[in-house]
Amino acid sequence: MSEQQLISLISQMTIEEKISQLLQLAGPFFEGSESQGEITGPMAAMGVSDDSVRNSGSVLGLTGAKEVIQVQEAHLKNNRLGIPLLFMADIVHGYKTIFPVPLAIGCSWDMDMAENTAAIAAKEASVAGVHVTFAPMVDLVRDPRWGRVMESTGEDPFLNSEFARAFVRGFQGTDLTDDHSRVAACVKHFAAYGAAEGGRDYNTVDMSERQMREYYLPAYRAALDEGCEMVMTAFNTVDGIPASGNRRLMRDLLRDEWGFDGVLISDWGAVKEMIPHGIAVNEAEAAYKAIQAGVDIEMMTLCYENHLKAWIENGQVNESLIDEAVLRILTLKHKLGLFDNPYRGASIELEEKLILSEAHRQAARDAAAKSSVLLKNDNVLPLKEEQKVALIGPFSQSGDILGPWSWLGSKEEAVQLYTGMVDLVGSTHIKTAQGCAIETMTEAQLAEALVTAQDADVIVLALGEHSDMSGEAGCRGDITLPKVQLELITALKSLNKPMVAVLFNGRPLDLHGVYDQVDALLEAWYPGTEGGAAIADLLYGRQNPTARLTMSFPYALGQVPVYYNHFNTGRPQGAPDAQIRYVSQYLDMPNEPLLPFGFGLSYTTFEYSEATLSSSTITMEQPLTIKVLVTNTGDRSGEELVQLYVRDLSGEVVRPVKELKAFSRILLEPGESQEVTFTLAEEQLRYHHSNLEFNSDSGDFIAFIGGNSRDVAELKFTLTK
Ligand code: GLC
Repeated sequence: MSEQQLISLISQMTIEEKISQLLQLAGPFFEGSESQGEITGPMAAMGVSDDSVRNSGSVLGLTGAKEVIQVQEAHLKNNRLGIPLLFMADIVHGYKTIFPVPLAIGCSWDMDMAENTAAIAAKEASVAGVHVTFAPMVDLVRDPRWGRVMESTGEDPFLNSEFARAFVRGFQGTDLTDDHSRVAACVKHFAAYGAAEGGRDYNTVDMSERQMREYYLPAYRAALDEGCEMVMTAFNTVDGIPASGNRRLMRDLLRDEWGFDGVLISDWGAVKEMIPHGIAVNEAEAAYKAIQAGVDIEMMTLCYENHLKAWIENGQVNESLIDEAVLRILTLKHKLGLFDNPYRGASIELEEKLILSEAHRQAARDAAAKSSVLLKNDNVLPLKEEQKVALIGPFSQSGDILGPWSWLGSKEEAVQLYTGMVDLVGSTHIKTAQGCAIETMTEAQLAEALVTAQDADVIVLALGEHSDMSGEAGCRGDITLPKVQLELITALKSLNKPMVAVLFNGRPLDLHGVYDQVDALLEAWYPGTEGGAAIADLLYGRQNPTARLTMSFPYALGQVPVYYNHFNTGRPQGAPDAQIRYVSQYLDMPNEPLLPFGFGLSYTTFEYSEATLSSSTITMEQPLTIKVLVTNTGDRSGEELVQLYVRDLSGEVVRPVKELKAFSRILLEPGESQEVTFTLAEEQLRYHHSNLEFNSDSGDFIAFIGGNSRDVAELKFTLTK
């Protein structure tokens, strides 16, 4: 269908049909849905009419080939012009084969792996009838109190942008029309949702436009540059206006400046939430502000449905705004081939064959091994098969390792840690006890743990947060491990045995009571369906840890927000002429995080030679190269992630003490050395000036090179323009 044909179709639609095309409803509203009629809670109060359903444009969260086919079939019969539905769902880190949460995948620094996880998720989702996924979530995060940091790839704009591109490539492929194994992606949440004050979900976001463009916007832009088809609005305000009614953000920046002409969907109820936000007195005003801002689809509220027609009739809203929105939605349906084949990739037969296949499980296992970060190891790991292990803790035998946004995955099908270890090395030398629940402990549990551990050679603790303690609205004001788990550590410590802690959690934690108490610490995050197998691979050395943190672990909550690319201030702590007191510091704790961005250990060690610059000057035409020789000084092969950071010593605005500019992963055999070369060009030194212009300034810079953002070599150079 050409655009002209789509426009001709729109001309046949009544105003009611056009407005309903902008409505997205959940599955139970639709004939053919197996949950049809189960309209409960807030949905029941919506008062959705049959006509609204008959003419609606898209379905939220309904998956499964049989059900999708049923619903689409019924809809095509009921819809006067036979316009097919779009089926959209949150396929964030896997469909039924669940991959590690995105914050874990972010720690892999592996774009190919990330792309592959999205491609597999799309393959499983598309045979289940899904057309659009509400992913990738690319919100930059700096506050671990926020429940949704698990959904982001971390605190760096450059790395988040690379992952945004990789996820979009994986979900969408290169030909959405003919490649029915792919789904359209929807980048979210536009914009700066991760900057909610206090790390409290849905809370106020307020920052300068410059700060937003420098840190929070790049990853959304990268997703769109990669061809992402949709954008979802954020719940929060941006400069005092909720995103879903923010014309400056949506029309001026997203559509006019960036040229995005795809579909913009509100987050769940976000249009109507302009009322409690306090910028709309009623649903009518909310509808007006959202359509003026350019929101095409209203998710799960009826402001458009109930009020847009009146705005058009009284001349306050030009019908052309509705036509534009409908055209964008129909264009996406056309791009997905739905007018030719409204069932697209849905296939009961292929669901059976593809979903949770062995190949997909293996990919999940590899991804989890590459995403778990070794944070400490005082010569305790890897374990030896003949060691007597006491596996103790609430995550020893738990399927709650899929993490939030894994609603289609099955905890029962997840490989638990105990299972993974026994499958790998047999049960002869492994005993297990729960020791405590996530937030409660009985005397019997503690007693059993002590007995189980008393003749072990090594204790492996499996600890963490229940997955509901993360994710949307899963914010915590105290980010330590639950108290009973700290008590369990203390009790087991009294046995004076080597202790390894494996953490299953959705955020950087305050590791007081953990980090200093154990001899080794492995951050598993929520590792997904094959989590137990992957962690066992790492614990027993079948895989050598390669992951590096993409979000800082604070020394304590009091530091938050703490992130590596911070400004220096006028009184930096530790400066040569710094005073003892009157500098930017805490009296009771360090400024630095416990574990910095880019940090992660391996089972081998690496040494860096002195780094060299090809020149001490960069010009517009002449980049410079930075070389360093890295040697594996340990006794087993391993991968090192060499990282390059830069600092602009005198900007037109203050500049971060470090900014990630490049990274390179190298695999080295014991004793092997390899030269790593980075090229640094003028465009990598550009930033947003106070007038929002994006360019670089002549002046002095420092390059930093090393295996994390803290332990680096410094090299000075100058940009001459
Ligand atoms: C939720 C989330 C959003 C999700 C949407 C649909 O409120 O904020 O990320 O895609 O609703 O489930």
